[in-house]
Amino acid sequence: MGKSMALADFTKQLDALATEAVRAFDSAATAEALEGARVEFLGAKQGRLKAAQKGMGTIDKSDRPAAGKRFNEVKEQIESAFKAASERLAAAPVAAVKQGPQFDPTVPGTPFRIGRLHPITQTVEELKDIMGRLGFSVADGPEVEDEWHNFEALNIPREHPARDPLDNFYLATAAAATGGKTGLLRSQTSTVQIRVMEQAPPPVRIICLGRVYRPDTADATHYPMFHQMEGLLIDTQVTMADLKSVLRLFATSYLGRDVHIRFRPSFFPFTEPSVEADFHWDGQWIEFGGAGMVDPNVLKAVGYDPEKYIGFAFGLGVERLCMRRHGITDIREFYKNDVRFLHQF
Ligand code: DAH
Repeated sequence: MGKSMALADFTKQLDALATEAVRAFDSAATAEALEGARVEFLGAKQGRLKAAQKGMGTIDKSDRPAAGKRFNEVKEQIESAFKAASERLAAAPVAAVKQGPQFDPTVPGTPFRIGRLHPITQTVEELKDIMGRLGFSVADGPEVEDEWHNFEALNIPREHPARDPLDNFYLATAAAATGGKTGLLRSQTSTVQIRVMEQAPPPVRIICLGRVYRPDTADATHYPMFHQMEGLLIDTQVTMADLKSVLRLFATSYLGRDVHIRFRPSFFPFTEPSVEADFHWDGQWIEFGGAGMVDPNVLKAVGYDPEKYIGFAFGLGVERLCMRRHGITDIREFYKNDVRFLHQF
């Protein structure tokens, strides 16, 4: 520099440096910030205090003792501000951490709680899948039905006990929906057999999966609403052996092992002959539904020629299948909407 510096200027510089240094130390929120400030002001080689000290060489000889004294005061002031800041940060480590990065990308996220399909819905989807592979397509029908589709066309005449008001949900309000005819909540998915055959000529190969309603008191095996899988196959050459093969393939696919099935003679108005179908499971015969060869009266009711066409039908309980698969012992569990139960499937 060459030129000499006045004492007053030197002092002013030192005071400004002190103010800046003290502010930096006081406001340092982390050990890293404090260390950065320490290097800036007190660094042994490049520190600003060191630089100021070098400036002393340009001061008049006579002023040097005063400059040195002032320098030492400022140095002490800065050093003690640094010490105080170090102690402050050491005493409040938690506060220091809080000031650090707020977001740690390495912490595992909070998993979403994803919902799932109801076990009955899952079962319905699986049954459609299995029957689809056997060539059955899915048909649908209304849950509010008229007596023609629920009874009459299925060969269930007016006096038949199945039509008893105590065994069905007849609906006063359904009269409007069905154009003045008596309506009811369908008691069986066999209604869909009629609806499909009314709409299309043979051959037919359908299933229908849906809700049915009966005024049963709920207990471990009954519920006023449940699901059925209805099946219908109509063609020119169909035998009961075909029916048995289809049901056996179905049971084997659904239950996952080679399941034997058994037919017991039974009666349904819409099949002749009629059977109850059982499958063999854990050393027991378990009933899983009714079946039979479609009664010629049903074919006549929908305008099919019973001399030319023949077929089989079956109706299975969906809840019962799902319960057997998962070891569920009480049908009411399905409809309590308790997520602790539903979450398991
Ligand atoms: N609809 C009958 C019921 O709900 C079940 C049934 C039996 C359906 C025999 C059928 C059948 O298609 O052929 O009890």
